[in-house]
Amino acid sequence: MKMEHSYKFNTEVVHGARFPEDWQGATLPPIVQSASHRHPTAENLSRTFSGKTADHIYMRLTNPTNRALEEKMTALEGGIGSLVVSSGMAAITNACMSLLRSGDEFVSGSSLFMSTYILFNKIFKKYGITVRMVDSTDMDSLKSAINDKTRFIYFETIGNPAMDIPDIKKIADIAHQNGLPLLMDNTLATPYLCRPFESGADVVIHSTTKYLSGHGAAVGGVVIDAGKFDWPENRFPDFEVYKKEKGERAFLDKVWREHHINFGTTQAPLHSYLTLIGIDTLALRMERHTANAMMTALYLMQRPEVEWVNYPGLKSHPSHENGLELFGGKGFGGMLTFGLKNQEKCFKFINNLKMIYHLANLGDCKTLVIHPYSSQYISFDETTREKLSITPDMIRLSVGIEDMGDICWDIGQALDSIA
Ligand SMILES: Cc1ncc(COP(=O)(O)O)c(C=O)c1O
Repeated sequence: MKMEHSYKFNTEVVHGARFPEDWQGATLPPIVQSASHRHPTAENLSRTFSGKTADHIYMRLTNPTNRALEEKMTALEGGIGSLVVSSGMAAITNACMSLLRSGDEFVSGSSLFMSTYILFNKIFKKYGITVRMVDSTDMDSLKSAINDKTRFIYFETIGNPAMDIPDIKKIADIAHQNGLPLLMDNTLATPYLCRPFESGADVVIHSTTKYLSGHGAAVGGVVIDAGKFDWPENRFPDFEVYKKEKGERAFLDKVWREHHINFGTTQAPLHSYLTLIGIDTLALRMERHTANAMMTALYLMQRPEVEWVNYPGLKSHPSHENGLELFGGKGFGGMLTFGLKNQEKCFKFINNLKMIYHLANLGDCKTLVIHPYSSQYISFDETTREKLSITPDMIRLSVGIEDMGDICWDIGQALDSIA
């Protein structure tokens, strides 16, 4: 008798998605560093070009190492397929562009990563595309922002750096009642905390650069499709050919064929390899990241130099209850923000840190710090910074997996120095 057994998440990250190729029993895929692939016959290459075989042709199109990461991400998010691309921003750009035409609109949560904010509000605008931004808790504004031109709804599972957590189920219901797909950037939560498809999302996007890779060694991105949205004719007439040819993979095929290939957003196979190694320890690292972030938030709350702490794990946080339910009690992620008296104090604090790295990244196993107002958001005007709550007194901390005593020691001695 065949025993049916499905792995739990901690096992799935290690053993999920055995690679389709045998690769002589290797436990990790080889880094297939080849720009192109030989074909035995002209007929075979012709069949591959017409999509009748899944063989590889050219690295800009597909690559075996990248495909192994795609299989893994599909398994971790519970989708029907994935497309690995060169960065998180490439994933966002490709996914959105494949849904948008000039004159279209979409609705987005207003709490967005900096480059996503620029892409939506400045770059897309140049091509006649309008984004309507809504607060993640304001369902009435979300409903009234939808009109005949709307093509999708977009949110981050945990807003970077606002740290708000939207109610994915409610938003997905509103999206579906209006014949729209919901796209979720799940970078900060990772599938360890949240699998947005289970709450009704249709497409999940990640910057794999962060927690998935986990060691600050590789840049990458991925688009994963739940395969459940049926792309209704009235809103998506341009999906007809993809639906006919690819069925439930219509969206992924459109992203791949129209945008990934022609925009050239190829992932370097070395980066997929490094990301796959990182994913093996994702569950362990996320467990420690979330525990350390919670303890760091509590520690910061007790320090007189700290004016405020923004972490959804704190009971007083407006997203606490929603995060508890959505993340099933597994924690609230590894990132937080906090306030000192002013920018001068923030600079002094950062300059006096001894162990914590000062750099522009997050989700590394090392604790990282940045002053967003004077760095990532330096080119933003004051009104926009205010709207996004990027204030001169704010520090962003991506809490790592080091010993908690050492994280507190470093933060503590740097806070002592600003008193
Ligand atoms: C939530 C979120 N999405 C997307 C990105 C972009 O990812 P990448 O730097 O891999 O392009 C980032 C980067 O910080 C991010 O925080």
